[in-house]
Amino acid sequence: MSNENNRQSWDKLSEYYQLSTSISLDDIHYAPYSPGEKELNVIGDVKGLDVIELGCGGGQIAIVLAKMGAKNVAALDISEQQLNHARLLASREKANITFLHGDMENLSSLQNASFDLVVSVHAISYVSNIENVLSEISRILRLNGRVVLCTIHPLQYVLWEALEEDSIKKVQSYFGSEPSTWDWIDNTKTPIATFSDRAHRYEEFVNGLLKNGLILERVIEPRGYTIEELKTIDLEEVAYHNKRIDEQFTRINQIIPFSIIYVAKKIEIDQN
Ligand SMILES: C[S@@+](CC[C@H](N)C(=O)[O-])C[C@H]1O[C@@H](n2cnc3c(N)ncnc32)[C@H](O)[C@@H]1O
Repeated sequence: MSNENNRQSWDKLSEYYQLSTSISLDDIHYAPYSPGEKELNVIGDVKGLDVIELGCGGGQIAIVLAKMGAKNVAALDISEQQLNHARLLASREKANITFLHGDMENLSSLQNASFDLVVSVHAISYVSNIENVLSEISRILRLNGRVVLCTIHPLQYVLWEALEEDSIKKVQSYFGSEPSTWDWIDNTKTPIATFSDRAHRYEEFVNGLLKNGLILERVIEPRGYTIEELKTIDLEEVAYHNKRIDEQFTRINQIIPFSIIYVAKKIEIDQN
C-alpha cells in the first residue's frame, strides 16, 4: 500500500477517530494511557521557536505547541479530512497555526533551514520511505535545530499481538521489512478503513538520522500507567485515552513500550 492509500483511509477514518479518542489540548501525548510532555519533558521550552508538526491529524499537538509559546507553528497532514478537524479545533482554541496539505516525504513547498523544531507523533510509521522523510526534516531544520520523532516501538510490532492473544505463534520477526496491512475496527467490530504501516528497526532510525546530520541526543521509551495509577489520576489529565480505560492495553504496556521517541539535533555534515 502507498502513502496515497493511507491518505484515503485517513480521510475515511477521520470523523470516527476524532470522535472516539480523547486527545489533550493542554499536554502532548506520546502513547495512550501514558505520561505526556508535562511529565516526560521531551520537547521542553519552545518559546520563540519556529515549529512544524508533520502528520498533525486533528491538530491537537500543534495547538499545544502554540499554547506553549512557539513563535510560529505550522502543521502538515496528507489527509484533508484530518486537516478540516484541525482547522476547526485551532479556531475554537484561538491558536494561530498555518495548516499545510501535503506528504511529509516531499516538503518542497518549505524552504531550507526554516524551522527550529520538527515534531512528529505516530505518523511516520504510515510513510512508505522514511529515508525521504529524514532527509527532508534535515533540510528544513536550522543548524542546532531539533527533531522529536515519536513512533511505534519495534517491540510493539514484534510482540503486541502475541501478548494480546497469549500465543507465541503470533510473534513477528524483528527483521521483517514489509509493512503490515490491517483494518481499523470500530466499537461494533466493523472495519472502517484499511491501513498499512511499519515499525522501523532501531538501526533504520538511528542510521537514517546520522546520515542526515541529525545527532541523537536522547531516546525515550515511555512506560504506560498501571490500572492502579489510572484509578488515582483524573482520566482527563491523561494526554491520550479512549472514552473507556482499555485494561488489556495497560497490562501489555507494562511489559513492552508502545512508543519510542527519538530526539536529535541538526549539526553541520562534513562533506568530505
Ligand atoms: C495517528 S494520526 C496522528 C496524528 C497526530 N500526530 C497525533 O498524534 O494526534 C496519523 C496522521 O498521520 C497522517 N499521515 C500519514 N501519512 C502521512 C504522510 N505521508 N504525510 C503526512 N501526513 C501523513 C495521517 O493523515 C494522520 O492524520
